[in-house]
Amino acid sequence: MPTHEKSASDKGTSHPKAAEMTIFEVLKQDHEKVRYLFDRIEKSGRKDVAALQKLFSQVEEELEVHMEGEERFLYTALERHEEPREKVLEAYEEHQVAKTLIGTFKSLAVDDERWGAKISVLHEIVEHHIQEEEREMFRMARKVLNKEQIQEITVQFQQHKREGRRPSRGAPVAG
Ligand SMILES: [Fe+2]
Ligand SMILES: [Fe+2]
Repeated sequence: MPTHEKSASDKGTSHPKAAEMTIFEVLKQDHEKVRYLFDRIEKSGRKDVAALQKLFSQVEEELEVHMEGEERFLYTALERHEEPREKVLEAYEEHQVAKTLIGTFKSLAVDDERWGAKISVLHEIVEHHIQEEEREMFRMARKVLNKEQIQEITVQFQQHKREGRRPSRGAPVAG
């Protein structure tokens, strides 16, 4: 895969673009994507059931992969440190609340009036959570993690996202 964006002297990095971003920027990008999807859901007419269903599936997939990656690579690294520990424990709980709420959509039709109420609550929970991550957790993380750790977490998270994006063929995930 030829690339002319970087000089040939930049060796040792198989993904030059990925190497330029830190985990914090990668996560913020995900956050922006989810914000955008919620925005589109809220601006969509309630009658366009197919569009709402599709947007919700995207939110679900996006959040699932994002939360799992954060937990596996960022939170586990941070919870060992005293300062961010409390924030991280809260974040795990907020993820759990979001996952539980997402699970309740399965038995609910998009045109059920509770659907919109659930989306609003999910949006609020997620927005609160990502603000705490961006305003507090990432700041603490930059203090307690060194450059190499940040780079490793970034690479691991991006790898996880690539794997998570493979089409699932609708197979149920065993627990
Ligand atoms: Fe999170
Ligand atoms: Fe996040």
